[in-house]
Amino acid sequence: MLKVNNLSKSYKTGKLNYEVLMDISFEVDKGEFVAVMGPSGSGKTTLLNSISCFIPFDNGEILLGDQEITGLNEEQLADVRNRKLGFVFQDFMLLDGLTVFENICMPQIIAEKEVKKMEVLANKLCEIFGISHIKNKYPTEISGGEKQRTAVARALINQPHVILADEPTGNLDSKSCRAVVDAFLQAKDEMGATIFMVTHDSYVASFCDRVIVLKDGKIHTQLRRSCKQTEFMDILLETFKQLGSLKNDNE
Ligand SMILES: Nc1ncnc2c1ncn2[C@@H]1O[C@H](COP(=O)(O)OP(=O)(O)O)[C@@H](O)[C@H]1O
Ligand SMILES: [Mg+2]
Repeated sequence: MLKVNNLSKSYKTGKLNYEVLMDISFEVDKGEFVAVMGPSGSGKTTLLNSISCFIPFDNGEILLGDQEITGLNEEQLADVRNRKLGFVFQDFMLLDGLTVFENICMPQIIAEKEVKKMEVLANKLCEIFGISHIKNKYPTEISGGEKQRTAVARALINQPHVILADEPTGNLDSKSCRAVVDAFLQAKDEMGATIFMVTHDSYVASFCDRVIVLKDGKIHTQLRRSCKQTEFMDILLETFKQLGSLKNDNE
């Protein structure tokens, strides 16, 4: 579903060329829930932004389904972002002037989809994520967990190839955090969604099928879950004890 081949990316600051991603290759299967973890500055956001087509990369290729996204122009990239990708951000990025329901519908409106079908779809997503009772509320009137479940519903409405999430639980307390993890698990189980998520939270990652660990711009290890969530969390914690802190700079 998502294929990254030999991806490299560097940032130029003045005369210095700073390599952030070095020859990264991996695949994410349809219906897989994958987390990317790694110390602060290891290149997680850069990787996600490259896949999101938000920043250009130096070398390598990224395939979404069968489509190679290298070399597309801005208009084509915008189309890929709207039709093939769903986004969930740390700070929700909901539009405050729109209701929960309207926020969820937004990607369909941009894609000029039929209103009747859109409403049926949006209602179904509200039901799945337990937000039907707040669908006419505005973002300022709901909790962080509800905001993020709204964002997950919005990310899914165009039935994207992949949902990309950067620290989706970074601004949430542990209870809301669990509600958002459950929303991703439901998206995967009930809708076959493919999810690629950056997180520094071992608890959140322990619900994933696989964890890709980045360190200094390279894939350090990949851990596939073949045990219970609690056991997987112990494995992750042990792995990161050896790697050092996973905390973000802004925490
Ligand atoms: N736009 C930029 N210009 C220059 N350096 C950058 C830019 N964005 C990120 N970096 C650097 O690249 C490295 C990786 O950043 P990032 O991908 O944000 O890491 P992470 O999300 O894992 O914390 C960091 O050292 C960061 O300072
Ligand atoms: Mg980051």
